[in-house]
Amino acid sequence: MNILVTGASGLLGAHIVSRFACAHNVTGVDRNPWWGERCIQFFQGDLSEPAFLRDIILTSSPDILIHSAGMIDVDGCENNPDRALQSNVEITSRLVENTPPQCKFVYISTDAVFSGASSFWQETDEPKPLNVYARTKFEGERAAVKASAHLILRTNFYGWSSGRKKTAAEWLHKALRDGEPINLFDDFFTTPIYAADLARCLEATVNSGYRGLLHLAGRDRVSKYEFGLAMGRLMGVSMSNVRRDSLAEAKFAAPRAKDISLGTERARALLGFEMPGCEQGLRRFLSDQAKSLSQR
Ligand SMILES: NC(=O)c1ccc[n+]([C@@H]2O[C@H](COP(=O)([O-])OP(=O)(O)OC[C@H]3O[C@@H](n4cnc5c(N)ncnc54)[C@H](OP(=O)(O)O)[C@@H]3O)[C@@H](O)[C@H]2O)c1
Repeated sequence: MNILVTGASGLLGAHIVSRFACAHNVTGVDRNPWWGERCIQFFQGDLSEPAFLRDIILTSSPDILIHSAGMIDVDGCENNPDRALQSNVEITSRLVENTPPQCKFVYISTDAVFSGASSFWQETDEPKPLNVYARTKFEGERAAVKASAHLILRTNFYGWSSGRKKTAAEWLHKALRDGEPINLFDDFFTTPIYAADLARCLEATVNSGYRGLLHLAGRDRVSKYEFGLAMGRLMGVSMSNVRRDSLAEAKFAAPRAKDISLGTERARALLGFEMPGCEQGLRRFLSDQAKSLSQR
């Protein structure tokens, strides 16, 4: 099959490309260079250019389009809502408009669409985005629904990047390793999944033929503080430098929802296996550090 992946050089996009490139003809597109070792067709450019976007779809002729590109800087979105709208909504709409009708459109969405007033949010729960990032990702979902065959995946993940733009987990790992002081929220909860595990679950979901909305996330609901302690324990380092902090008292440009943990019962029933637990994912994250993308 021909598979087109947008945001192919980003954290998740690169893991998706690497996963699918074993068995499919994959094309990647990103404004940053491709950094994986798998040999794929790759186009470097900006999807906000309508002619570039159209050309990529025509050239790659996708059976499946996985749209992982997006503006992910939550405070950046709050400070520049027009750019967030263009990145997260307009590009999604334009991709859908240019996607051939038989092509499956997979949209990577976020747990941040929820208000935070509950836990283990289900696919049937009503989103109530609290900030511009979340609102534009939710509008992106509405645009994706217009594709005749669509799959909308809400998630929360961590992993090793190319190094160009270090991820939160990479900063945390470095701080723990070097004994640097680090403050972690004990009142902000998610269900994180390791990016390589997510790419595997995504592949299984696509192979299942499922259409519609699905939560793909880790099994365990953890605070950032608990996540940090779990990583430190597995690394075997001293954690005297790790301090509790409070999201409620933090000052960000964008308001944050305090509990965006996702319920994954539907995914478990569909895929026939349990989503990875926090420690299981972290063990793989740590053991993959020295491995190349295609070995993860
Ligand atoms: N990280 C999470 O925990 C999380 C949680 C839920 C959902 N998501 C969603 O998952 C998706 C992937 O996230 P990620 O963490 O992998 O992000 P990422 O590392 O920033 O990857 C996204 C890639 O897309 C590129 N890109 C963005 N806009 C583009 C455009 N107009 N044209 C070409 N390339 C463009 C980015 O380039 P630049 O870096 O130059 O912008 C980046 O290389 C996003 O849609 C995000 O909303 C992320």
